[in-house]
Amino acid sequence: MTLPGVLLLDAAGPEAGALATAAAARGHQVHAATTAAAYEGYGPQLKDLLAGHIVTDFTRPDRALAELAAYARRCGVGAVLTVNEYLTELAAHLCAELGVPGNDPGRARAARDKAAMAEAFAAAGVRAPYTVLVRDEDGLRAALADPRVGFPCVIKPAAGAGSAGVSVVSGPAGAAAAADAARRVAGMYASGGDLRVLVQAYAAGTEYSVESFTQGGTTTHLTVTRKQVTGGANRVETGHSLPAHLPPAAETAVYRETEAAIRAAGIQHGASHTEVIVAADGRCAVIEIGARLAAGQIGLLIQHALGVDVWAALLDVALGRPAALTPTAHGYATVRFVTSPRAGRLTSLSGLPTVGPGVPFVRRRAAIGDLVHEPDANGHRLGSFVVTGPDAAEVEERADTLLRQIRIHVEPHPNGPGQVRPASTSAIAP
Ligand SMILES: Nc1ncnc2c1ncn2[C@@H]1O[C@H](COP(=O)(O)OP(=O)(O)OP(=O)(O)O)[C@@H](O)[C@H]1O
Ligand SMILES: [Mg+2]
Repeated sequence: MTLPGVLLLDAAGPEAGALATAAAARGHQVHAATTAAAYEGYGPQLKDLLAGHIVTDFTRPDRALAELAAYARRCGVGAVLTVNEYLTELAAHLCAELGVPGNDPGRARAARDKAAMAEAFAAAGVRAPYTVLVRDEDGLRAALADPRVGFPCVIKPAAGAGSAGVSVVSGPAGAAAAADAARRVAGMYASGGDLRVLVQAYAAGTEYSVESFTQGGTTTHLTVTRKQVTGGANRVETGHSLPAHLPPAAETAVYRETEAAIRAAGIQHGASHTEVIVAADGRCAVIEIGARLAAGQIGLLIQHALGVDVWAALLDVALGRPAALTPTAHGYATVRFVTSPRAGRLTSLSGLPTVGPGVPFVRRRAAIGDLVHEPDANGHRLGSFVVTGPDAAEVEERADTLLRQIRIHVEPHPNGPGQVRPASTSAIAP
């Protein structure tokens, strides 16, 4: 019997690579929809694994949808998946077009565009920070004067991700610069000219994310993840740890709001990653939802701490088969992101841990000579590593110790900061 083919929208990155490998290992033909430039960057292992690929233009979603649907029909595709946040809306439309399990295309924008998300959350009564959509300076002034926003407030791009262009603003003086920074962020595959900025009430508290799978409208929460985030004006993730244990009342509130957000974003068949802030009194505000598995190695953390094969589960959900989501392990896992202390040219990076017992993953993204940046977006990470074990406190302590052993030297550079190269080396323990 021929198994259905699997189409991945964008196969770049460790999460997509793990998914492609899992699908191929189960005997599926794996196809990738990609841009010409991205395909150039695929490694030889991934290229060998793919049964085929289609080059398309994701900046033109209608055309991409027609091309991908024709390709998928030709190749016997029975499951469409993406781990790329920017492509979740296209994935929902393609699933509907092909009649394969996927999310509600009519609501899928709410999981991608933060303005649509704020509207959908408000309409569904999801507890979320009060949000004003701003298109110009007058709108910005009005938003800042709105007592439901107040100070501090958060200014962010409507269609961004990866914490780029997100600022916490403490008073009116910093708002115009923050709005400019938000406008400068061009989302991936954006055709440009999106000047929409969101001004949001600040939610004080501790940050978590909820990693969930929904099948046929029934949601299973795999775990709650504790996020480590920098303070200050630019909040950038510095690590994730799971499972996090909340007091029962807070956990109930978090799950209730997460489920409301999942429904509001039309997530019916697939993974979701819901970011929440829990206040000291246990109340919860939903910051955002992604209709995809969490990035930042959270899939790997789940695999090690809970023994759930998230890649197999994603495939099963996409194929319409019951997914195995019950934990088979009861450990703990954390990831630390390595960031540069300052902007300049990276002259040395030493002391990164090596893969071994309790350290299943080490990734180095930056090369010597790269122009690096103080972290004000997730893309500025120099590397990352994962630590696992049975005891939460011991795992956290070991991760902190390993992080302290890393030595980074950066020389000032006259031309200012640049981007970390997308090229990377990763090591994953077998
Ligand atoms: N309303 C808010 N109140 C308090 N903190 C916020 C708020 N909105 C955003 N933040 C902080 O800024 C971070 C990034 O914001 P947000 O998640 O909306 O942007 P993003 O670009 O989707 O980031 P990422 O992809 O890293 O999740 C959040 O993780 C949080 O630390
Ligand atoms: Mg976020």
